[in-house]
Amino acid sequence: MSHRRVAILISGGGSNMVSLVDSMTRDHPARPCLVLSNDAQAGGLAKARDRGIETAVVDHRPFKGDRAAFEAELLKPLEAAQPDIVCLAGFMRVLTGDFVSRFQGRMLNIHPSLLPKYKGLHTHARAIEAGDAEHGCTVHEVTAALDDGPILGQARVTIAPEDTPDSLAAKVLLYEHQLYPSVLRRYVEGNRSVLMLP
Ligand code: GRF
Repeated sequence: MSHRRVAILISGGGSNMVSLVDSMTRDHPARPCLVLSNDAQAGGLAKARDRGIETAVVDHRPFKGDRAAFEAELLKPLEAAQPDIVCLAGFMRVLTGDFVSRFQGRMLNIHPSLLPKYKGLHTHARAIEAGDAEHGCTVHEVTAALDDGPILGQARVTIAPEDTPDSLAAKVLLYEHQLYPSVLRRYVEGNRSVLMLP
């Protein structure tokens, strides 16, 4: 049985991409087929190349506010890689409903909050500011609405009184690296039940 092909989109260091890539070995039914970034300086690109994975860059800046034109370029290497599943992993560009609709039902994202709380940015600071007792991360199917699709998994951490946004982000990131690979494997295997960690 041939492996399912997973493309991963990144914008930065790619620690989630590394966790996903390093999980797709041995009896895992999927393999990475492309790591694609909107930023040529993304640190994750070197990590992907070190792992022998094809990479591509489509810089969003030349397209200024023309999101559709950027996405038309982004689609070229992405469709050429013929992915069965697309994972957004620290990908910091908002995608239009048209782009998402091409991958509806086979595109995942990880967001650093317990959705539906704290969609958007600065999630760790917002949780601390709100005085929440806990925080965490969510893997969800991507739909046209930002950070809003069906939840596939969540991981919870407690917020300690001494936590800063940076210390909390570091705690959550460790759980992201467990949650995303676990959810991806279940997803590839057709399991849509919600995974709760720990
Ligand atoms: C992380 O905070 C993650 O929650 C969000 O993007 C940030 C960077 O992730 N998705 P990575 O190290 O580039 O995977």
